[in-house]
Amino acid sequence: MIITIDGPAASGKSTVAKRLAQELKVPYLETGLIYRAVGYLLSAKGVQNPDDERALRLLSELEIEPSPEGTKVLWKGKKLGSELYTEEVGRLASRVATLPRFREKVNETFRELLKGKSAVVEGRDAGTYIFPDAPLKFFITASPQERAKRRYRQLVNQGKDADYEEILKAIMERDERDRNRPKYPFRPAPDAVVIDTTHKEAEEVLEEVLERLNEASS
Ligand code: DC
Repeated sequence: MIITIDGPAASGKSTVAKRLAQELKVPYLETGLIYRAVGYLLSAKGVQNPDDERALRLLSELEIEPSPEGTKVLWKGKKLGSELYTEEVGRLASRVATLPRFREKVNETFRELLKGKSAVVEGRDAGTYIFPDAPLKFFITASPQERAKRRYRQLVNQGKDADYEEILKAIMERDERDRNRPKYPFRPAPDAVVIDTTHKEAEEVLEEVLERLNEASS
């Protein structure tokens, strides 16, 4: 069975998706990694305003390998890792995500990859456009202030420079762009279970998700 977990940046959706995939021993597909990988390659080439052709060409050079431990993305055989998680790459990923032909191809690639398989699929549109028929969908969210706080703490813990106000501004801009793209706008699926994590720990959220899963399977 396909379980989708969507939500905005820094909502805690990745933590829940990863833990759930490990618990169920099924592959975990982190869809944002593909947008980030293309964003990263564009940034390395100094391209600020990508178009469908260029993004599609880069997509054809990527390999995606989901497993219960996480999603691996390789470019020309080389594994891409922490370089994908910078703010600059996130910003470019969100630009690439507005390209309609590119999105369609990405979604097709995901469907092909998981054909006939069970998996946890995490992203922005897993339950709306990639797998609209998934039997169980979650939408994990939190207030922009709480999400900015989490991102800030994460950066500080990694020993990086961080400015809370700047992070909050970037999160709000990214939300705005993701929500208002003319095609495939970012929103919860009508049949998704919405969980607001603003006042919740990751453990509580996982428990809630597992409860829903038990209900759905019984
Ligand atoms: O989840 P993330 O922060 O790694 O995603 C990076 C960007 O990619 C984000 O701005 C939105 C975009 N994205 C998307 O449009 N659709 C997805 N399924 C996953 C990510």
